[in-house]
Amino acid sequence: MCGIVGYIGHRDAFPIIIEGLKRLEYRGYDSAGIALFDGTDLKVTKTKGKVVDLEDRIKNEITTNGTLGIGHTRWATHGVPNDVNAHPHYSNSGNLVIIHNGIIENYESLKKELSKRGYTFKSDTDTEVLINLIEDVKIKENVKLGKAVQVALNQVVGAYSIAVFDKNKPDEIVIARLGSPLAVGIGENEFFIASDASPFLEYTKNAIYLEDEEMAIIRANKEIKIRKIKDDSLVDPYVQELQMNLEQIEKGGYDHFMLKEIFEQPNAIKDTYRGRMLVKEGIIKMAGVDDNIEKFLNANRVIIVACGTSWHAGLVAEYIFEDLARIPVEVEYASEFRYRNPVITNKDVVIAISQSGETADTLAAIKLAKANGAFVFGVCNVVGSSIARETHAGAYTHAGPEIGVASTKAFTTQITLLTLIALKLAKVKGEISNTNYRYHLQELELIPEKVQKALESDEHIKAVASIYKDARNCLYLGRGYNFPVALEGALKLKEISYIHAEGYPAAEMKHGPIALIDENMPIVVIATKKGHYEKVVSNIEEIKARQGKIIGIVTEGDTNVKKLADHVIEVPETLESLSPLLTTIPLQLLSYHIAVMLGKNVDQPRNLAKSVTVE
Ligand code: M6R
Repeated sequence: MCGIVGYIGHRDAFPIIIEGLKRLEYRGYDSAGIALFDGTDLKVTKTKGKVVDLEDRIKNEITTNGTLGIGHTRWATHGVPNDVNAHPHYSNSGNLVIIHNGIIENYESLKKELSKRGYTFKSDTDTEVLINLIEDVKIKENVKLGKAVQVALNQVVGAYSIAVFDKNKPDEIVIARLGSPLAVGIGENEFFIASDASPFLEYTKNAIYLEDEEMAIIRANKEIKIRKIKDDSLVDPYVQELQMNLEQIEKGGYDHFMLKEIFEQPNAIKDTYRGRMLVKEGIIKMAGVDDNIEKFLNANRVIIVACGTSWHAGLVAEYIFEDLARIPVEVEYASEFRYRNPVITNKDVVIAISQSGETADTLAAIKLAKANGAFVFGVCNVVGSSIARETHAGAYTHAGPEIGVASTKAFTTQITLLTLIALKLAKVKGEISNTNYRYHLQELELIPEKVQKALESDEHIKAVASIYKDARNCLYLGRGYNFPVALEGALKLKEISYIHAEGYPAAEMKHGPIALIDENMPIVVIATKKGHYEKVVSNIEEIKARQGKIIGIVTEGDTNVKKLADHVIEVPETLESLSPLLTTIPLQLLSYHIAVMLGKNVDQPRNLAKSVTVE
């Protein structure tokens, strides 16, 4: 995690870095810091807290002149969040300065060695060890900074994206990457460095994404030289044109990114199927699937690997792949899969789902699957992300940037994309009738306007939220396709409001959670028509008998649940297989409003980060 930003060129570096850090705060926000070369000396300021706290502190501490600088927003791994552990970190001489995203796993042994050689450490971080290792190599081997970084990194085990400069040579920045993302924006005689392209969108649309095990020396007014860290070979820079624009990464009048992203879902879902689903013609085309159709058709099974919300989308996909395409599916937490010696063969297709495309566990699961001969397909949102590049083939969700830490539009667009894949395979395999297939396409095309309709309940949901905002616990129940939605609803509530919530298959309630039910327990039950409606209504009766407070998510016009529930929130009718795309919406809004009413930081909940690049 952590966000890094750097600038070298002819403009003032300070505003670029501060604004860039604000855009990268989704990656971590427990401390922040900046190092600027002001023309004569190195100025470093860092603080516990957010980038605004850093700005406050800078007002009193340093001049903000200088055309070279680096900045960091942290998600703590080694060492508590405090001023000392915040980045940038210096070397013992005070000449070299570094920012780092990642973990140096062998930092303790390196630290021991360096201590023996007289180095001292102010912080508890692995990063301070790395900058001193670089300094040690530089002095010992009498080499330039670039070479010292390269030699040091060859001794390091772990993951990193780093930017380093030497105050005695303030015309270059050295950067490197292994396992954590790093983009370089190419301007006119200027370069921007960042964990993703958002900090430099208004300055340039040309970017290079460093690959793993690559480093670069960037010189103002000159060029960027990229090399392989291991064998020193030169790499031809591949400059990409960015498709993202500034508007997409701003709040656009909403109070929070999360709310904006919830309301973006009708368009985001449309963007996911646009150009891929030709309803009149009855065609679904996706190059990543079309070009590898035999792999999917001959697969013994599909294994889905993901984390968090993406894992929930994988669970929904399990229902739809098995139900429509009759392909056996297993859904795995990437973090468990990667370490439990799973049976993987070259007859397996692995689908990796990740909004950010940077989740360390998912990335590791992909590498394991590839090493065992499986065909790996990626479902990512962030274009050019590590997972998108590591997989054999894939498809982007095209949801647009998701900044709020709580995933919303990522979830519904992942489900949309996976539904397209399942429908395509069902059709090619002949598992679905033509009529049913066409019906699915027509219904999927209508989902954006139905999501829009579901969003119209916002005020009503806000009123329900105000009644339950002080609950300490909450249960979410659903069956079939809506069981994963119950899990997702519970995750949304706990991660942004810090209320304990659990999702359960509705029928499992009587095997344990029913003991929790009393007159203080709110229970959100997804009870849409179709599927297991009658059975869920029986579950509602059981809750009612124990005085639990029932919030029913029901199909428009439902009257049965209305009689039993304390509150109902309606969603439009659709096919059971598509219902998660609608039932999710009120759950997102409910958790959003509760968190706002509790005064929580909705977009940046405590302890979390948007992109989990550590295991
Ligand atoms: O970027 P990814 O989809 O790989 O992220 C996976 C999880 O970290 C993510 O979904 C997390 O659970 C969200 N905060 C949930 O809202």
